[in-house]
Amino acid sequence: MVSTKTKIGNYEFENCFMNAAGVCCYDREELEKVINSDAGSFVTKTATLNIREGNPLPRYYDTDLGCINSMGLPNLGFEYYLDYLLELQKTMPKRAFFFSLVGLSQEETHTLLKRVQESDFNGLTELNLSCPNVPGKPQIAYDLETTEKLLAEIFVYFKKPLGIKLPPYFDMVHFDQAAAVFNKFPLTFINCVNSIGNGLVINDETVVIKPKNGFGGIGGEYVKPTALANVHAFYQRLNSNIKIIGTGGVLTGRDAFEHILCGASMVQIGTTLHKEGPGAFRRITEELKVLMREKGYKTIEDFRGKLKYL
Ligand code: DHB
Repeated sequence: MVSTKTKIGNYEFENCFMNAAGVCCYDREELEKVINSDAGSFVTKTATLNIREGNPLPRYYDTDLGCINSMGLPNLGFEYYLDYLLELQKTMPKRAFFFSLVGLSQEETHTLLKRVQESDFNGLTELNLSCPNVPGKPQIAYDLETTEKLLAEIFVYFKKPLGIKLPPYFDMVHFDQAAAVFNKFPLTFINCVNSIGNGLVINDETVVIKPKNGFGGIGGEYVKPTALANVHAFYQRLNSNIKIIGTGGVLTGRDAFEHILCGASMVQIGTTLHKEGPGAFRRITEELKVLMREKGYKTIEDFRGKLKYL
């Protein structure tokens, strides 16, 4: 019997796959589809304090090798997702879910996290430090000074399991510097990676999405090598109690296998879930299990982080 069970902090999941924030998680109806699929958990759309419409349409475009998007954090507001998560805690007490959130200012982020701390929410919180698409708002985690100060302030009052969603880094020195900051804090997990920010896709002579004159986050096949590098760079550098969620370019069971080999304890699916729907969870899980059987691995701990070097 081959198992894709996994653990993050003190939480156990029947399957290591879940959605990536932004895909199939806008409202209850979409989240229920993930709950009723083979996924091991879900994460909500990143919530801000107030409801947001997001950027003007068209703001998402599929390409052969992935997608470009500039959604602009459309979401139903913090209370909507918190209410639903609290309801699920009663109806599905054995399952744990992730609450993605970020404020439009540091003050708002503190307001949100303090409310989570005061609430009965007993799942995991994923603080999104990497949205590339809100005009005028930088990807927070590219500014490590701000990130360190923010985390230092947060961990004064926040005592529940917290992780951070990161943008991709592209330089060894940045991996060193970022890991040195994250290792100072009792993070339960980091999630690598968010979309590669501010790419440009052109059709004939024209951009394909409206916001920011066509600039948007890139997902899908394009990002797998970058995602694997980030998962593994942080796996090599972080305290072993900070678990890693691998996100980026997972189309097949083989892609997921590579993320786990690089050190991921859980694997999120974004662009592929958007293209294929929640049936992707069963297909990719089965593909991973076939590969594990071929290689004689019974659990993901048998090969997690065990990437071989030449
Ligand atoms: C959005 C996109 C992201 O990649 C992200 O992390 C958060 C938000 C968005 O545009 O809504």
